[in-house]
Amino acid sequence: MRMAKMAAAVAEHGQDAFRKLFKFYKRRVPPPDFSDVIDFAKGLRNEKVFAAKLNLAAISERDARGAGLHPIKDWKAYGLEGYPGFIFISNPFLLGSQQHWVTQSLKVYPQKPNVCNLDIHMAPAETENIWERSAERIRNKSGGKSEAKTLLEKLRWVTLGYHYNWDTKTYSADRHTAFPADLARLSGHVAAACGFPGFRAEAGILNYYHTDSSLGIHVDESELDHSWPLLSFSFGQSAVFLLGGAKREDAPTAMFMHSGDVMVMSGASRLLYHAVPRIVSPPAGFPAPLGPPEEDTPEDSLVSKVPEEDWEVCTRYIEASRVNATVRQVLAPGQLFSAAANSRPAVALSGESYHQEETTGDENPKPKRRRSSSADS
Ligand code: OGA
Ligand code: MN
Repeated sequence: MRMAKMAAAVAEHGQDAFRKLFKFYKRRVPPPDFSDVIDFAKGLRNEKVFAAKLNLAAISERDARGAGLHPIKDWKAYGLEGYPGFIFISNPFLLGSQQHWVTQSLKVYPQKPNVCNLDIHMAPAETENIWERSAERIRNKSGGKSEAKTLLEKLRWVTLGYHYNWDTKTYSADRHTAFPADLARLSGHVAAACGFPGFRAEAGILNYYHTDSSLGIHVDESELDHSWPLLSFSFGQSAVFLLGGAKREDAPTAMFMHSGDVMVMSGASRLLYHAVPRIVSPPAGFPAPLGPPEEDTPEDSLVSKVPEEDWEVCTRYIEASRVNATVRQVLAPGQLFSAAANSRPAVALSGESYHQEETTGDENPKPKRRRSSSADS
């Protein structure tokens, strides 16, 4: 058998190093060599990884526990050589508390008035109860590939707060609903720990990935104030994440994101190119991150025990899927959208160029299928 090319050799030559590495990690046959992918779960073993300093006094242990987080002093936070402002927090969640965030992402956040990809081709009445219409069938699935997909399995993205318009790449005042309070609080805690007290969670994008999904190369620059960090929370299956430079040509650094990992892009790293070329299984022996809660939670805790019948559905789902939530502050304190931005004509939202998906994982990958198109198949 031919040896798979090393990532370093791919990235070295040629103009568009990012695109080449994206294709390298996306490729299914032969599978890529993952030995250049940084794994923050292994701590400081990589020479480019260093310990990041957090503000240990930013939140109390009680507040951390209320959001399902370990005390900040116990977080394993890392920086990456060459990426000032980038902070990777290796699963700061208490054992069992990820259950809450996974369940919210599958059962609650897709609910109206939040917006999702299914809204493009379906009537509002049909996308009203995605969870209720899917749960029983997911619970009873035998695993046969021929079974029709449930709405939950067709879900690709959900937007929160200021609902991102995929076509105009803008947020606007007239497309806004309340941001979920629990996710806002979690985000505020993480931002404060990273040196950004006063962060306001104003917009969120949830991306739902299956084993054959990827997310194209992009920069998140639609927010009007870039001095606030972009927060990213990952649950379920692992992913290869590529962090590039300020220019599309800059060769990216590959890293794994596992369930519970939190990534912060701030400062000089806030506007860097990035992408998710591949979803991968968690490494063997990776501690089961999603077991039942073991500790007493404060009375005003955001995180409560998930009913067993709900968790059964979530478990089924994340066995082959990954959920990522990115949380953004859109406006500077006191800032308003300009009248021009408000009056931009509403365009059908699709996110088509952003989300990509292979139809199968077989020998000859079919051409990219746009994510949103699976909603009407
Ligand atoms: C995004 C994004 C990355 C991820 O939604 O803008 O870059 O890890 N997501 O899913
Ligand atoms: Mn992004």
